[in-house]
Amino acid sequence: MGNNLLIIISLILLLFHQTNAGLVTFNVIKFGAKGDEKTDSTKAFMDAWKSACDESVEATRIFVPKGRYLLKEIDFRGPCLSSIIFKIDGTLVAPDDYTVHGDSGNWILFAQVSKLSVVGGRLDGKGGGFWECRDSGKDCHGGARSITFRSVNDTSISGLLSVNSQLMHLVINGCNNVKIRGVQIIAPDLSPNTDGIHVEGSNNVTITTCSIKTGDDCISIGPGTKNLWMDRIHCGPGHGISIGSLAKEFEEEGVENVTLINSLFTGSNNGLRIKSWARPSKGFVRNINYRNIVMRNVENPILIDQYYCPDNIGCPKQSSGVKISDVTYQNVQGTSATKTAMEFDCSPSTPCTGIKLQDIKLTYLNKQPQSICHNVRGTTSGVITPVNCL
Ligand SMILES: *[C@@H]1O[C@H](CO)[C@@H](O)[C@H](O)[C@H]1NC(C)=O
Ligand SMILES: *[C@@H]1O[C@H](CO)[C@@H](O)[C@H](O)[C@H]1NC(C)=O
Ligand SMILES: *[C@@H]1O[C@H](CO)[C@@H](O)[C@H](O)[C@H]1NC(C)=O
Repeated sequence: MGNNLLIIISLILLLFHQTNAGLVTFNVIKFGAKGDEKTDSTKAFMDAWKSACDESVEATRIFVPKGRYLLKEIDFRGPCLSSIIFKIDGTLVAPDDYTVHGDSGNWILFAQVSKLSVVGGRLDGKGGGFWECRDSGKDCHGGARSITFRSVNDTSISGLLSVNSQLMHLVINGCNNVKIRGVQIIAPDLSPNTDGIHVEGSNNVTITTCSIKTGDDCISIGPGTKNLWMDRIHCGPGHGISIGSLAKEFEEEGVENVTLINSLFTGSNNGLRIKSWARPSKGFVRNINYRNIVMRNVENPILIDQYYCPDNIGCPKQSSGVKISDVTYQNVQGTSATKTAMEFDCSPSTPCTGIKLQDIKLTYLNKQPQSICHNVRGTTSGVITPVNCL
């Protein structure tokens, strides 16, 4: 009898525990947030985060209902006691006046957190005023990346829409094991420095099924990126998917094990680009794989540029120290918008090696385009148009 009672009590406790698991929800409305686009909800979001992060050892959920929430610069910091699901049904709106953001360069920041899932959400970065100021050549105070994950582990970001970020839209910096899925980025073609997704100093990041239309790189890959997997990316307009710019610094980590497959570029300035400054550097790029890529009217479908030196400042007549090796291009098809469809401008001091081309079919105005090779070694197999220069 005593035993049975114990079992029954245990069962009840277990049931109680299970129904509560995942139900510890912190609704931002309860903390005073208002989805009216006018009320500053920054403190309410911060209070909801603090409760979820510091007070609950159960798995927690922060919930943002439908509505437009005005948020100023906000830092969601860990470490937290448990995993957190940040479920956003509403839109987070930046202040109209971009100078409100201050000097941190971030609008929404997650730092030192692990086991976080950001689900859904729209971010309206209100970038227009900032771009206008920059275009007028003025010294513009402020400007912010819309959402940054810094020193974050075991995290997923899914179903997020980011529009009109003032600077880069989504930044992954110093993170491990991050999954980005179903993210959509929209900003005008001519908006400056509005990279869609930027990854650097991070290991084991996957980016799948994302659509990116923006004014700078769709995805930019910075120093210290390792084991990055990208699959089903639709890029354009934009400056393509770029490794670099590298060699900005002499002491710089390399980029290693990057894969891009099953992806489409439409009307972008570049497709598959690797670029480094023409400067000495300890950096490197190795084991990069591009496979099953379609180009539609892309200006530079395949490009390695180791002579990057905007305005010829700080690097004229120098040579890039970044060693590029083992880059495979496999099944790249479609149309180039310029007559040079394939260009390898590698460094005279550290030539590119192990470049592999297999089944490249690119046309320009229904004709065979040209290719350019400088300081590059590698092999080809299958059909290669343009005529290969390797
Ligand atoms: C993330 O992982 C790295 C490497 O394992 C570790 O050093 C760091 O403390 C972790 N950070 C968090 C917030 O868990
Ligand atoms: C990378 O991620 C995969 C799956 O997400 C995981 O199994 C693996 O342990 C991770 N690698 C590292 C080094 O954390
Ligand atoms: C890169 O991938 C190879 C296998 O494909 C693996 O052996 C190596 O450890 C990876 N490099 C890093 C830095 O994780």
